[in-house]
Amino acid sequence: MLLEKAREFINTMYRELNYSQSAIDSRLDEIKNEIAETGTYRHTSEELTYGARMAWRNSNRCIGRLFWETLIVQDARDVETNEAFIEAINTHLKEATNGGKIKSYITIFSPDQPPTIYNNQLIRYAGYEDKGDPAEREITKLAQHLGWQGAGTDFDVLPLIYQLPHETQMRMYELPPELVLEVPIEHRNFPKLKELGIKWYAVPIISNMDLKIGGITYGTVPFNGWYMVNEIAVRNFTDSYRYNLIEKVAEAFEFDTLKNTSFNKDRIVVELNDAVYHSFKKHNVSIVDHLTAAKQFEHFERNEKQAERQVTGKWSWLVPSLSPTLVSNYHHGYSNEMKEPNFFYKKKAEKTGCPFH
Ligand code: ARG
Repeated sequence: MLLEKAREFINTMYRELNYSQSAIDSRLDEIKNEIAETGTYRHTSEELTYGARMAWRNSNRCIGRLFWETLIVQDARDVETNEAFIEAINTHLKEATNGGKIKSYITIFSPDQPPTIYNNQLIRYAGYEDKGDPAEREITKLAQHLGWQGAGTDFDVLPLIYQLPHETQMRMYELPPELVLEVPIEHRNFPKLKELGIKWYAVPIISNMDLKIGGITYGTVPFNGWYMVNEIAVRNFTDSYRYNLIEKVAEAFEFDTLKNTSFNKDRIVVELNDAVYHSFKKHNVSIVDHLTAAKQFEHFERNEKQAERQVTGKWSWLVPSLSPTLVSNYHHGYSNEMKEPNFFYKKKAEKTGCPFH
């Protein structure tokens, strides 16, 4: 089974990279022996990098896949100590943020003995009973049980909660503020928006997925791209079960009604995208608008066709949450088959909820 998966991956990768059949055969021989001897095998750094890039290419929910070949890999497979772990996290934050010119980046820890990261993303705001991000209430409670106390604002950056292999206790780490870039949100034409004090962090670093390459599962692989504006402006800010900001923004915009037929809710959503986009740009932080992202995805589809690969996708995720019908992916379907290498949500059982609840 492992050998089968390894074979499939090595064949695909090495052929894409135009390796000779004899190179493929000798690498497969090596892997076969290694599996016979040790029960597993270790990817070369080229395999690790290319495998992670393929996983991005195969991510059905991602509209940003045009750039799959630019993914930078930090090989942290040999990280064991707390110092080395924190160093790898800090390096990721720094390199990926890159002063605002965000780089797509992934840190890959050991497949056999990975440290566990409990956070959904490396940077995320705490969620309290009636403040902050409701999506993060569970991890916030966990942090509080471990002795953390947030300032109690809507935007308290959560500490990193993790556990090292061979240790029985969770550890907690406050991210150095200078490594957490944030953007205050304002609107060019609605100066009062600024007074709401809303902001968002620059880099979305997913930390709750597995990466599978050639039969090997990497369980701790924080990875990031850059934001598409509507992820923040539509989903994070206006979903009723997230920051739910429509009414507050209506007041800041001095709209006198939110009646359905005034179309003011829709207007607010559009203007919030304008605000988030231009606030990021003003602070020189990478971000893409939904129309450009969709164009880039069309480009990706053409590239893949050229390479004679089928593009798989999850329609409900690929269609942007702002003006969906204005972009091409709304108007056709995708096969949602999951090719490997790929990123996978962790199974419920291993899902790292708060052990105290
Ligand atoms: N939607 C998630 C959020 O708002 C981020 C998911 C990844 N997004 C990205 N552009 N790479 O935090």
